[in-house]
Amino acid sequence: MSSEKSKILVIGSTGYIGKHIVEASAKLGHPTFALVRPSTVNDPSKAAVLEGFARLGITVVHGDLSDYESLVKAIKRVDIVISAVGGLQIADQTKIIAAIKEVGNIKRFLPSEFGLDPERITKVEPVASVLAAKVQIRRAIEAEGIPYTLISNNYFAGYALPTLAQASPPTDKVVIFGDGNPKGVFVAEEDVGTFTIKAADDPRTLNKIVYIRPSGNIYSHNELVSIWEKKTGKTLEKVHLSEEGVLKTIQEAPIPLNIILGINYLVFVKGDCLSFAIDPSFGAEATELYPDVKYTTVEEYFNRIL
Ligand SMILES: NC(=O)c1ccc[n+]([C@@H]2O[C@H](COP(=O)([O-])OP(=O)(O)OC[C@H]3O[C@@H](n4cnc5c(N)ncnc54)[C@H](OP(=O)(O)O)[C@@H]3O)[C@@H](O)[C@H]2O)c1
Repeated sequence: MSSEKSKILVIGSTGYIGKHIVEASAKLGHPTFALVRPSTVNDPSKAAVLEGFARLGITVVHGDLSDYESLVKAIKRVDIVISAVGGLQIADQTKIIAAIKEVGNIKRFLPSEFGLDPERITKVEPVASVLAAKVQIRRAIEAEGIPYTLISNNYFAGYALPTLAQASPPTDKVVIFGDGNPKGVFVAEEDVGTFTIKAADDPRTLNKIVYIRPSGNIYSHNELVSIWEKKTGKTLEKVHLSEEGVLKTIQEAPIPLNIILGINYLVFVKGDCLSFAIDPSFGAEATELYPDVKYTTVEEYFNRIL
């Protein structure tokens, strides 16, 4: 019965991935609460997102990471807290951890991860320093003994596929990082939402990392380019950038381009989405846990955008 479903609060609800998590929570029947900053309520660029929340029957609660009491008040109303705050707010999640500790009855906390596993990647700057904040939050959660789940969904499809990881969608030429053979994982945003909500309320994922590695979403850069060519009927000129060349462009690029290039380096050159096996001692794979979820494959994603 829906009244037995855990109540879920999403902090960072109006963000790029947060809104998909809110939507999945409501669609899976959870009483869903979205923390929204008071200043965002009247932000015209967020009006469509907030209208979507209203249609789905989401309870909007006003709050801000910098307003501790607002966090306590919101967290008191729910069983599960999911944070999808952005890259600049990762360290500030210590405020959420303190509020969860104070409230005391939270069944599960999912901090803002939603990418590569920051403890299982090649160390390259500036990505290593940016992701160090996520590692610090992991340690803070463990130190407080808060029950948690971490979602490691690899690359958001919308970040990599529409442009084939170029600055803009390719017209006649595509730069391939390294030899283009290591495989990455590209997951549609609504599927990140669905798997996140499934994992948030699952005893099997308690204090574990859930990696999203659907078999239909695993492709190398070379393979993505050939699907693109097949679907558009156009052949692209391929320019290979050596590993040294990729590292040089990262060092020379301004923020935040250097971070995006750094992620591309980890995914396409180092193959860090899949460079380790998932051991049951620390993790589980989402499509193995939830074989019934009908996810969007990369082929289907391309059909949608091309
Ligand atoms: N795997 C990938 O390909 C990939 C790509 C990008 C990001 N990520 C990761 O995904 C996670 C979420 O990133 P995102 O890009 O979705 O974030 P985002 O779009 O920047 O959204 C950030 C959210 O945090 C909220 N927020 C900002 N400051 C706040 C404050 N002081 N108090 C409360 N809420 C605040 C924003 O609210 P407002 O709407 O009010 O501003 C917004 O809802 C991050 O961990 C990021 O590293 C992964």
